[in-house]
Amino acid sequence: MSGVIGVLTAGGDCPGLNAVIRAVVGRATEHHDAEVVGVQNGWEGLMNGRTRPLDRDDVRGILSRGGTILGTSRMDPYVHGDGYESVRRTIERNGIESLIVIGGDGTLRTALKLSEEGLSVVGVPKTIDNDIAATDYTFGFDTALSIATEAVDRIATTAESHNRIMLVEVMGRTKGWIATYAAIAGGADGLLIPEVAYDLDDIAAVLKRRHRQGRTYSVVVVAEGVAPPAGMPVDHPIDAFGFERLGGVAYQIAPELESRTGFETRVTVLGHLQRGGTPTAFDRVLGTRFGAAAVDLALAGHSQVMVAVQSDKMVSVPLTDACQSIRGVDEDLYGLAATFFN
Ligand code: F6P
Repeated sequence: MSGVIGVLTAGGDCPGLNAVIRAVVGRATEHHDAEVVGVQNGWEGLMNGRTRPLDRDDVRGILSRGGTILGTSRMDPYVHGDGYESVRRTIERNGIESLIVIGGDGTLRTALKLSEEGLSVVGVPKTIDNDIAATDYTFGFDTALSIATEAVDRIATTAESHNRIMLVEVMGRTKGWIATYAAIAGGADGLLIPEVAYDLDDIAAVLKRRHRQGRTYSVVVVAEGVAPPAGMPVDHPIDAFGFERLGGVAYQIAPELESRTGFETRVTVLGHLQRGGTPTAFDRVLGTRFGAAAVDLALAGHSQVMVAVQSDKMVSVPLTDACQSIRGVDEDLYGLAATFFN
């Protein structure tokens, strides 16, 4: 054997997680003759010693399955324990020499802190939100985008029959990648994302002009993370782990647009539909590339790094680069979507 690698999935799940796990196990066992220990339920399993060995047979048939065979949680050793001390026993008992951490920005920040305390860590960028810095894409985004685009297409035909305005709310906690790409791919007539301040009077004027010019419906894509209309409360329940539970801002926006335009306005919130089900081919391939690259880095002795895709090449970036900001949609891309709001 040439080493023991741990692997865990933490934070919200994401299509393609199983592709990454499969690639980690396949690359480690078949290519490097190394051993893999799967940590169950994210950081919670690492704190409580819940692990299991993973071999090639354990990961057969999972490539096309959504979710994660390891389970995940939003527990954090720095919030629910005392940092490295709360995971040290599991690391030592399993002889884990390097930990592959598959997660979004919060998980990667925790991984960075642990690596600063001495744990050898390689990160893999995971989120449907596509907002992790230093990588062109995260896996899961493409799957969520294809679901959101199909929803826009479907909503458009029913909107057309009723001369309605339809708001399609998609995920995107702080950034509007899914919303912007779905708006471009679905030919939406309006787009609200956290990166760009919106004015309901301006949007209503554009929509009214559309309908005056003979269009019989309008679809507006709304990212869940946009602020509610001026004067309305931000009212997000807090979950068991202290995270704001987003979703539903479109219900605050819809009556405002209806009263300004005079057109009946309806809302569809896609929610977790975007995270469930089988990953697209793109996400399976990206997840496989990420998983294999992470193993190569871990077994070559690298730590405090994250695998990333830049200009279609697998690269390794410092974990600090990935954690220092959240990547948003730039003005050009928003402008491209807005070209067609007429
Ligand atoms: O961060 C990814 C994400 O999908 C966000 O877009 C969304 O707000 C959040 O996860 C939902 O998480 P949960 O599964 O805890 O509801």
